[in-house]
Amino acid sequence: MSVSIDPAVAASLRGFEVPEKLGFGSVMAPVMFRATCQDGVWSGGELVPYAPLSLDPAAKVLHYAQSCFEGMKAYRTAGGVSLFRPERNAHRMAYSAERLCMPAVPEPLFMDGVKTVSAYCANLIPANSGESLYLRPFLIGTQPDLSVSASTSYEFYVIASPSEAYHAGNMRVWVERDDARAAVGGTGDAKVGGNYAASLQSIARLKKRGFDQSLWLNPGNRHTVDELSGMNFFAVMDGELHTPALNGSILEGVTRESLLMLAREQGYTVHERDIDIDDLMALVRSGTCSEAFACGTAAIISPISVLGDGNGLYELSAAPGPVAERLRSALLDIQEGRSEDAFGWMVPV
Ligand code: COI
Repeated sequence: MSVSIDPAVAASLRGFEVPEKLGFGSVMAPVMFRATCQDGVWSGGELVPYAPLSLDPAAKVLHYAQSCFEGMKAYRTAGGVSLFRPERNAHRMAYSAERLCMPAVPEPLFMDGVKTVSAYCANLIPANSGESLYLRPFLIGTQPDLSVSASTSYEFYVIASPSEAYHAGNMRVWVERDDARAAVGGTGDAKVGGNYAASLQSIARLKKRGFDQSLWLNPGNRHTVDELSGMNFFAVMDGELHTPALNGSILEGVTRESLLMLAREQGYTVHERDIDIDDLMALVRSGTCSEAFACGTAAIISPISVLGDGNGLYELSAAPGPVAERLRSALLDIQEGRSEDAFGWMVPV
C-alpha cells in the first residue's frame, strides 16, 4: 500500500474511547482516509486525524450535489479484521460516480482507503454480534465554480463509525403513494445523496403518524414496490422469497444480492419480480404473505411489523419470521466468522 500516515494519527487513536452506547453512525472514529483528484489525476491516499473539511462555499457539491457514497462494514473475527465483499462497494461507487459525471475512485485506491481505516481502527470494532465498524466512503466535487458543469477537482474520504445495526428491531412501514424518491431515467440505482434528500420529507411526515420508514413505489408506474429509503424489500409468500427485480430505480444492495445467494443455497425458491403494492397488501391481509423485511448493509435484516397506507394498516409478525431469522443468522455467521465463508465473501485487511 502507498498510503501515507499522518504522524498525528497515533495520538488521535490513543486518546479515543469507544462509548458504551453506540447507536448507528453517531460515534465517529478519530481517523479518516483522504485522497484528491485534479483534472482526472488521483493523488496517493493519506490517513489523517478525523476533522472538519475545509470547502470553498462555491464548491460544486454544495450547489449541484456532485456527491456519492458507500456503506460497508469491517468485522473483527478470529483471523483478524475482515471486510464483507468490498469489491462490490468499489464497483457500485464507480457506477454512482459515473452517473454524476465524477471520476471513479480507482479500485486499488478505494481498497487502500477502506483497508487502512479498518486496520488502524481494529480496536474500535465492537465485539457484540450485529455490531461492527461501519465504513462510509464518499466522493465530492470541490471545484469552486457556480457554472452547471462537472467539477474539475474531487475529494475522496473514508470515515468510520463503530455502530449497532441501523433500525434494529421491527419497523412500521408506510406505503408512500404521493412522493417519489427517484425519477424515471434518474439516479435511483446510484448511491447518491440526492436520493436520500428526496426521501426526507416523506419520512418526516410518516414519523408524525408513528411510522419508521417509507416504502417507495416505482416512479414510472406508481404501482410496484421499489425499496425503502436505504434498504431493499423482501416478502415471504407461501414459504417462497420475493423481492422487487432491479429496474433502474432500485439500488442494487450488496446485502440484497448476498441474501438471494444464501437463500438459493439454502433451497428457498426465490423470485425477483415486479410486486404490485395492492396485491401485496391483499396477500398480507389474507396471511399468504407471512413475513416482510428490509435489508441493507447498515440494517442487516429488519422485520416489518406493519404495512400501512391511507386505506388501512396490515399487521405482520413483530418478531423476525423464521425465514428472516434464518437468513440473518446465516449472513452474520459468515460476517462474524462463525461459519465457513463458502462464497469467499470475506476479505482480510
Ligand atoms: C447502508 O446500508 O449502508 C446505507 O447506506 C443505508 C444508510 C443510508 C443508512
